[in-house]
Amino acid sequence: MKILKLVFFTVVYWLALLSCIEKSSNQDTSFSNILPSPEKLKSSGKFASIDKIIVPQNNEAITQFLPWLTTWAMPVQMATEGEVHTLSINTNSELKPGAYKLLIQEKSIEIQHKNKEGLRNALSTIQQLLVFNNQKLPMLEIEDQAAFQYRGMHLDVARHFFKVEEIKQYIDYLAFYKLNYFHWHLTDDQGWRIEIKKYPKLQEIAAYRNETLIGHYNDEPHQFDGKKYGGYYTQEQIKDIVAYASARGIEVMPEIDIPGHSTAILAAYPELGCLDKKYETATKWGIFFDILCPKPETFDFLEGVFDEVIELFPSQYIHVGGDECPKNQWKNSDFCQKFMKQNGLKDENELQSYFIQYIENYINKKGRKLVGWEEILEGGLAPNATVVSWTGNEGGIKSAKLHHPAIMAPSTHCYFDYYQSENPSEPLAIGGFIPYEKVYNWSPIPEELPDSLHQYIIGGEGTVWTEYIKDFSKVEYMGFTRIATLAEVLWGKNSRDINQFTKQLFKHILYWKGEKVNMANHLLDVQTLVENENGQGVSVNLNTPLEGTTPTVITPSGKKITELEKAPFELKEKGSYEFYAELGKEKGRSKHLDFNPHIGNKAKVSLKEQAAEKYSGNGPQSVFNGIQGNSERYGGAEWLGFEGKDFNAMLTFEEPQHIKNIHCRFFKGEGQWIYLPSKVEIYSVQTNGEQKLIASTNDIDTETKIANVSLAFDEIKVQKLNIVVKNFGLIPEGKQGGGHKSWLFVDEFVIN
Ligand code: ACM
Repeated sequence: MKILKLVFFTVVYWLALLSCIEKSSNQDTSFSNILPSPEKLKSSGKFASIDKIIVPQNNEAITQFLPWLTTWAMPVQMATEGEVHTLSINTNSELKPGAYKLLIQEKSIEIQHKNKEGLRNALSTIQQLLVFNNQKLPMLEIEDQAAFQYRGMHLDVARHFFKVEEIKQYIDYLAFYKLNYFHWHLTDDQGWRIEIKKYPKLQEIAAYRNETLIGHYNDEPHQFDGKKYGGYYTQEQIKDIVAYASARGIEVMPEIDIPGHSTAILAAYPELGCLDKKYETATKWGIFFDILCPKPETFDFLEGVFDEVIELFPSQYIHVGGDECPKNQWKNSDFCQKFMKQNGLKDENELQSYFIQYIENYINKKGRKLVGWEEILEGGLAPNATVVSWTGNEGGIKSAKLHHPAIMAPSTHCYFDYYQSENPSEPLAIGGFIPYEKVYNWSPIPEELPDSLHQYIIGGEGTVWTEYIKDFSKVEYMGFTRIATLAEVLWGKNSRDINQFTKQLFKHILYWKGEKVNMANHLLDVQTLVENENGQGVSVNLNTPLEGTTPTVITPSGKKITELEKAPFELKEKGSYEFYAELGKEKGRSKHLDFNPHIGNKAKVSLKEQAAEKYSGNGPQSVFNGIQGNSERYGGAEWLGFEGKDFNAMLTFEEPQHIKNIHCRFFKGEGQWIYLPSKVEIYSVQTNGEQKLIASTNDIDTETKIANVSLAFDEIKVQKLNIVVKNFGLIPEGKQGGGHKSWLFVDEFVIN
């Protein structure tokens, strides 16, 4: 009997424990749509009876956040004399900075935190709990902290300008997701957006451009809208925005981009340039040769500008740009060459470093820290600088090896001006391809970085460059889904997996849609990945990001197939296939694939040199699978990109094939360093390995983005074929990216 009792109680004990564990790990209740997902959450499933949040008097931290809290739908008030508060705030020195504990009971809320940031994070959680529970508060217990101390978002207001109210909306959104830095890109070639009282021509001249490029930079010839464009934030507006951000726990890091990206400055103050010419604020995108010259008046100007910037922004960090500064004018200037000699600078990179160090020294004296894009590493890093790694991970790794802090914003994962879907109905974007899944799967710590250096990666940020983003609704579209995802990554990715995260994200998207926010929703779009492994037959892997939805296919002959299994769907008919998914009333966009079978589908393909990792499509077979890539853009699974390399493919067929023509497609986007090849050569390969040229051409030209090249020849029988596409080589000086290796982008080779 005793034993039975013991067994009974042991079982009850374990069942109770298990149900408790289940509750704490079950992130799928309406109580816990919180994003970023909290580290630990326990909920009883009941609601508190609190309909007003009464905060304590005389608490300096909560007073800072009151202007924010009073915008929430549930009334938030400061306690009057003697009134009992429903929210108590206690410091807990054992917590890490930014960490918090939140306990919501029947009639009370308790927050424990170490610093103001922890309190802000707890408040963001309460805000989301209210939003996702019809303004009721669930009773629960949360323990939570961020994985990274720097969690930022950038916004470029130089290429396009956004209203004060819109900047505030952006800040509100960042606070909702517990981001803590707003990197405000205030100046660039196309416009200066911050009032500097000492230099009024910045407002009169540099803040405006005569007109703006229409369409994509790669569209030739360039066309312009003929309309003057511009504006700037007054100092009063900036103070208002900084205060607004501070009430939401966000530090505003201003960026004044020098010594490159300075055409607008030179339009206002041409005497700061190296050339005696009339400069104009840029009207198109790209990298410009007009840069600041290291004259005494330039340094005086910069001191004057940073004096006012520092007054306006209490931020510990001041960003000085430093990116994409072509040194041609410094090379060709007698003044600069003499300046370099006098100052012991051995090359132009060191001159760039001189600029940055000069500013660092100036702002350090005022108690601020310098931040710059990774190019500030060139010519020697300023002694106390923080580096933003953007072309990839390399800048961050170099910085960490020098024991400097780094913020990771690689353009492979964090550039939210890139396309986020391969659907042709996407609005115009700069290029690239970064769906939210890619952001979710990103890790800010580069794999190759030794453990001992991880401490130098202080966090990450996403960028929203606005060349192709004219209005705030498009900022929402391009940015917001990926910002919520980035926030999850930088908080530590406590969601169980991407499926779990996607479910939560879907609820957030529906919420924001209800708030009239133009948030991108690709969660019901069917994703297609065409497979043709070793020429064994073309099939499509179909995926719908949201669990519980399945794709529907309509075949070229009009047959509708639903309830598809997850197994690859074989393409058997020539023609257009349609794929879509539905969930209740919500229907995703249709995706169309035009299948054009050809002999190349049967080939086993190997490449002599692999495509660049970020442009490797779905492997070498991608350009022999019967599916053409998008004609407007080169990112995505059907294009292969090679930086400074040839495309050299060996095709092997199981049986000899009769062929008589090959049609190829290449992308041209010189503004993005993508050049047409200089030559295409086709060789048959004999069994003894000997190669015989069967066709070649160097007549490759196009006015449009896509060059179509056809090579016809007398029919031959081959079992092995070698296709060589020669890279253009170095980009000519005077062009975007002059002197750099050019990119070669190849798409489908149709063999018949
Ligand atoms: C950058 O994208 N030029 C930092």
